[in-house]
Amino acid sequence: MLLSPTGVEALRTALTRAGYTSNGIAARLGPQATGGGARNDFRAALRATEERDPLGTLIRVFICEQTEPEAAVAAALAPLSIEEALTGGLVERHGDGLRMGLDLEPYGDDWWVLADVPASARPGRPLHAEHVLGIGGATQTLIGATVRRPVDTALDLGTGSGVQALHLATHARSVTATDVSERALRFAATTAALNGQRWELLRGDLVAPVAGRRFDLVVSNPPFVVGPGTTTHVYRDSGRVGDAIGAELAAAAPDLLTEDGTMQYLANWVHVAGEAWDERVAGWFAGTGLDAWVIQREVADPMAYVNLWLTDVGEAADPRRTADWLDWFDAHKVEAIGFGIVSLRRAGHDDPVVRVEDLRQRVEAPLGDRIAAWFDRQDWLRARDTDGLLAARYRAADGLQLRQEATMGAEGWAVDRQAIAMPHGLRWTEEIDPLVLALVGGADGRLPLRDQLALLAAAHDVAPAELAEAAAPIVAHLVERGFIEPVAG
Ligand SMILES: C[S@@+](CC[C@H](N)C(=O)[O-])C[C@H]1O[C@@H](n2cnc3c(N)ncnc32)[C@H](O)[C@@H]1O
Repeated sequence: MLLSPTGVEALRTALTRAGYTSNGIAARLGPQATGGGARNDFRAALRATEERDPLGTLIRVFICEQTEPEAAVAAALAPLSIEEALTGGLVERHGDGLRMGLDLEPYGDDWWVLADVPASARPGRPLHAEHVLGIGGATQTLIGATVRRPVDTALDLGTGSGVQALHLATHARSVTATDVSERALRFAATTAALNGQRWELLRGDLVAPVAGRRFDLVVSNPPFVVGPGTTTHVYRDSGRVGDAIGAELAAAAPDLLTEDGTMQYLANWVHVAGEAWDERVAGWFAGTGLDAWVIQREVADPMAYVNLWLTDVGEAADPRRTADWLDWFDAHKVEAIGFGIVSLRRAGHDDPVVRVEDLRQRVEAPLGDRIAAWFDRQDWLRARDTDGLLAARYRAADGLQLRQEATMGAEGWAVDRQAIAMPHGLRWTEEIDPLVLALVGGADGRLPLRDQLALLAAAHDVAPAELAEAAAPIVAHLVERGFIEPVAG
């Protein structure tokens, strides 16, 4: 750990006593200063904490990034001694006072997460090669996407600060967390102890430390950044060439998951000229026997991508690093880099469902519930053959919208395009033909699909059996995306 066990307990006492929690800070600062802080504008927060009472001092040091008098910091951290806070790196000397040495982030209702200070807060100071990442966008994406159902065993691969493990402990009976970095494991151990949690912490490369073991839920926000395979910062670079880490995690999943177990991880994948990116990513799951749903949430061009990740480590101004990285992308015909969430389930079927989809639209949180529901719908579909699908009754999703484009012609409006759209959840939009539109429009839960199709066949003068055969895969697709829902009973 970064601090001794008694030191962690003392820090916990100090933070609790001062009310240094997300809610305590928001209550102390009020909405304006809290809003300003979220935009890195700390002027109002500094005004509200001039008294330098313990909570005010903690806010000034760890949120507003100020250097404060040693006596005030010592009083705020007591009973943790200032010597231990300095040795553990929690604070550091700066000018004639002390400033934060580590990011001590109040998180959730009453948690704290320990991480390194980001590059942006220490311009000019090179990031530690084993820099421990704080709670950023990618971290939060995985937190939001994780299926939060009760499980026995959960694993966090590449735990870093331990933030994913903190969440896992809310719905798993036991939590194991790994990291290749000893330094990161010290941070994770401190985060666990500070929050009164116990996790099994193991050091090693990816799944090596848990070889031969299985888990009900595995999550990973790995070092997914795509490049030539060189490692300068372990939080970002896996040492694997290109997007190989995404494929490696997929290949490891079957031996890592219990029956019905779920694995979710973040990944980057390259879009190569002349190659379909989705087929490339789907190839990761060939032969795994796992149901897979890959959601692409962002796509960046190489220049923006390199710029983003060099800025992240404070090296944006290095023209050589930029050129080397871009040359590698050029040599490998990489046109763009996708970012997204991989969700896998070991369902034990010979014919797993593999979907790789672009979902860059804004979606309703929490995504984890949507992902869980998607796998539930796959189970429902898998349990039915065509006869079963035809025998079921369906209801159109609540609030389903029809969007239509039409052009005025000599004979009035001519419809060019009709699409159904979900105004909530994953906000899918899908172009459909008039017959399917009629089917969805008539899905009120009363008639079995077979009878609904017979009526449509009569109205459109087509053979009922032919229509049923053509409709079955379309209905399955509409159910998969939740446009229509099976009615129980
Ligand atoms: C992007 S950070 C994620 C940290 C944290 N889990 C989160 O979600 O914010 C990736 C973590 O994986 C660790 N890591 C890097 N390479 C690894 C490897 N080969 N095996 C295991 N962990 C690795 C890094 O040390 C780092 O802590």
